[in-house]
This record gives sequence, C-alpha cells and structure tokens, in this order.
Amino acid sequence: MGGSESLPKVSLTTDRVVLVTGGNTGIGYETAKWIAMRGARVIIACRSEERAKSAIERMQNEFKMEKSKGALGLCSSETLALEFMTLDLSSLRSVETFINNFKAKEPKLHVLLCNAGIGLHEQNYTEDGFEIMFQVNYLAHFLLVAKLLPLMLNSGEDCRLIFVSSEAHRTSSFDLDKAQGKHHTKENFKRLMYYGNSKLYQIMQMYCLNRRLQVANLTVNSLHPGLVNTEINRNFDDMKCLSCCFRLGGSLGMIKTPFHGAKTSISAAVNPQFKDTRDAYYIDMRIGRPNNLARDQRKQEALWKYSVDCLKDFLKEEDLQYLEKP
Ligand SMILES: NC(=O)c1ccc[n+]([C@@H]2O[C@H](COP(=O)([O-])OP(=O)(O)OC[C@H]3O[C@@H](n4cnc5c(N)ncnc54)[C@H](OP(=O)(O)O)[C@@H]3O)[C@@H](O)[C@H]2O)c1
Repeated sequence: MGGSESLPKVSLTTDRVVLVTGGNTGIGYETAKWIAMRGARVIIACRSEERAKSAIERMQNEFKMEKSKGALGLCSSETLALEFMTLDLSSLRSVETFINNFKAKEPKLHVLLCNAGIGLHEQNYTEDGFEIMFQVNYLAHFLLVAKLLPLMLNSGEDCRLIFVSSEAHRTSSFDLDKAQGKHHTKENFKRLMYYGNSKLYQIMQMYCLNRRLQVANLTVNSLHPGLVNTEINRNFDDMKCLSCCFRLGGSLGMIKTPFHGAKTSISAAVNPQFKDTRDAYYIDMRIGRPNNLARDQRKQEALWKYSVDCLKDFLKEEDLQYLEKP
C-alpha cells in the first residue's frame, strides 16, 4: 500500500462542497483532510465542538507538513477550506437543527459522506427510543440524506452520496420486528449482530435510493474501509479478547492505519473514474459484492417503509415526494 501518491489524481476547487459526518477522528478525519488537500471545501459534522476544532487545527498543521515534504497533488492555497458544524446523530432533534443550519448557509452540496458510526455498542437506547447503533449508524443518516437530497439534486454535475458500511454486514440478521433488540436483556444483547444490522441497512438504503433517484447527477454508493486502527474500539473495550486482538493487530501492522482506511472513502468521493458508478460496494477502492441479504429487493423495501415510519415525526410531505418509489 502506497502513500498519498496512491490517492486519486484530482484537482478540486472550493466551489465543491463536501460534508463528512464524524470527520474529527479516524477514517473520517483522514477522508476530510485529504479531500480538503485536493482543494474542496470540507465541512465536518461532529458532536463535539472541542474535538472538531482541535481536529481542524491538526489537519492544517499536517497540510503544512505535507507541503514542506513536497507531496504531490496538494491544493495551492495557504490553508485548507475546512469548517465544523454541530451534529449529534443520537438525537433526531439535533439532526433536524443541523439540517436547518446547513440549508440556511449552503446553497449546494456535492458530496455527502455518511461516515460517523459507533461499533459494537452495548445495549442502549437514544432519546428517540431507538437502539443506539441503529440510530447513529443508520436512521439519523437516513433523515440527513432525505432532507439534503433536494440540495444535492440541484447542485449540478457529479454529486455523490456515500455510506461507510462494513463487512460486518455479513454478521447481520434481518427481522424488523426485532430491529430494536428490545426482546434482549443487556446480558444477551448481540452487539456484533446489531452493529452488522446497522451496516446492512446502509447498503440496503443505497439500493433503495438509486432505485428512486433515476437522475444523472447523483449517485449513491457504499463501502467497507477495511479493518482500521481507529477509536472504533472504544465501545468494546470491555470485550477483552476482541479489543486485545484489535490493539495487537494495530501494533503489528495487520490492521490498516486511518489513512489507508480512508483511501476507499476518498476514492469513492472524488475519483473521476467513479463519476457514474452507482450501487457499488467498494472494498479497497474496487467494487466488491455485498451479501445476498443486502441485495434482496423485497427486504430493502420493507426496511425503507420501516425507516420512513420511524421518522414520521420528522419527514414532511415535501420530503416524501423525493422518497417515493418510481
Ligand atoms: N475501524 C474499522 O475497522 C471499521 C471497519 C468497518 C467500518 N467502519 C466504519 O467506519 C466509520 C468510521 O469509523 P472509525 O473507524 O473512523 O471510528 P472512530 O474513530 O470511532 O470515528 C467515528 C466517528 O463517528 C463519530 N460519532 C460517533 N457517534 C456520533 C454521534 N452520536 N453523532 C455524531 N458523530 C458521532 C465520532 O465522533 P466522536 O469523536 O465525538 O466520538 C467519530 O468522529 C464508521 O461508520 C464505522 O462503522 C470502521
């Protein structure tokens, strides 16, 4: 695996607006930084202002370092066009406020990277009453996408919507009656399966969206970043065996660095070669194949209906017109 020379060769301008959820750390951090270093204006949507501001400061310093090393393909500006906006996906009210703030200040959105996520969380419920991984990884992004779609559809050429999913979708089980895991106790809650379910739902959402959005300027794709040494393990620190393997793998170089993990996201977002690609599930910057469950159209549509119902207090008539099946 190479360094920055292995990233797509593309030169962007600040007219191109890219939104990365969870851009303050891990895969999202590297994704936001490298897309900004290619010249785009990048907004990181994060729940902590302090963490976001310190991430932007680090990105600016790392940009200067890359410049001094003579890295290829960097934008010519002195500083990166990076901004922060508050978004807490565990609260649908926060998502709604974020959307209103975003729409009030941004007339265009070209790339939306649904990256923020939590892994293998113990059984927990949000203030909206949903299982936390279901909401943060999937449902809150559904609302974000639904409300920002009109903006993307009116933003001109080559708009891209990308879901950072996972190979963990293969651990999923599809039963919408049990989607919130309320039949489980804290002790027997299957964290990996519910994480996998949230990642499965993202891929299913991709197929549903592409079916509905038969437009030339907006594509929807998904990806698996690889096994990446990030802070994702903070939620399974108590699962000693798994977190030890993760740490050991990281220190032995068997798990990707956040930069290498971000390459597939960066490529999906800006590689000119993928401009017209849709319904792809990228792995290592190539098109892979999600499992049969993810590709089951009847189940995809059942999930879609279930999700719209979960969001009934937030989706208005005008939002639904973009979400209707053709
Ligand atoms: N690492 C891997 O091996 C791996 C493998 C497959 C897929 N993925 C996926 O890759 C994506 C990025 O994960 P990562 O590995 O970079 O993990 P990470 O380092 O833990 O970063 C996750 C990001 O999501 C944000 N986030 C978490 N809860 C949020 C909330 N309620 N509202 C808004 N933002 C929230 C975090 O913000 P805070 O910093 O404030 O917590 C952070 O910015 C996730 O969707 C994950 O499922 C990762």
